[in-house]
Amino acid sequence: MTYLIQSAQSTIHPDLEKWVRRAQIEKFNKPIRKQSLEGFDGLLGWLGQHEGPIILDSGCGTGHSTLNLAQAHPKARVIGFDQSAERLKRAPETLKTTENAYLFRAEAVDLWRLLAQAQVPIERHCLFYPNPWPKIGQVKRRFHAHPVFPVMANLSQSIELRASWLIYAQEFAAALTYVGKPPSAPQPIRPQTPISLFEKKYIETDTDMYQVTWPQGLDPTALG
Ligand SMILES: C[S@@+](CC[C@H](N)C(=O)[O-])C[C@H]1O[C@@H](n2cnc3c(N)ncnc32)[C@H](O)[C@@H]1O
Repeated sequence: MTYLIQSAQSTIHPDLEKWVRRAQIEKFNKPIRKQSLEGFDGLLGWLGQHEGPIILDSGCGTGHSTLNLAQAHPKARVIGFDQSAERLKRAPETLKTTENAYLFRAEAVDLWRLLAQAQVPIERHCLFYPNPWPKIGQVKRRFHAHPVFPVMANLSQSIELRASWLIYAQEFAAALTYVGKPPSAPQPIRPQTPISLFEKKYIETDTDMYQVTWPQGLDPTALG
């Protein structure tokens, strides 16, 4: 059984460009929650004077991808965060003793703005299988249709998105193009080893997966 996304949408949302361009002009001013500020202080303390690469794993779920990234890039510091305490509770035990990984609860819309304000130099931003919000009424919840999108797009030197819904990948790629960062066109991928629990499920069920990388020509397995 493959995981098929049911949606009334068969192409990129016609209003996406308008929303992204508006978000570029209008500053997104929603107050940042106290809990996010406190969590961010902890993160800055952990980062300390680290001068090597920093990888951000947004919406990391159970943190399996955070662990995999930390093991693949021992000189990097990997930040994994998710809004769901339930998912974070299911993090692999090894993560607790993985010194170059930091897993914590945070909300993306707050954390991205805090990272941008503090000018934390993120080399790679990974977004693995964000919630697709496939219903038309939910479209503005997709990260690329949200007013915070331009902040997110400017946060890092490179971006890797993986999605199981082609339209999500196409919209994400289009939104990056609207903010002047044209990525690679969405590519079908067939990973041999899953980076995350959702990817494991998609591999096991033969569900289609797509990758968008920016800048074009990026080798997502390499840093620097
Ligand atoms: C489909 S799951 C994918 C999880 C993980 N990346 C994986 O591949 O296994 C999407 C995750 O994004 C998280 N998420 C959604 N919106 C978020 C937000 N605004 N801030 C932080 N996490 C968010 C959800 O809690 C969920 O764990």
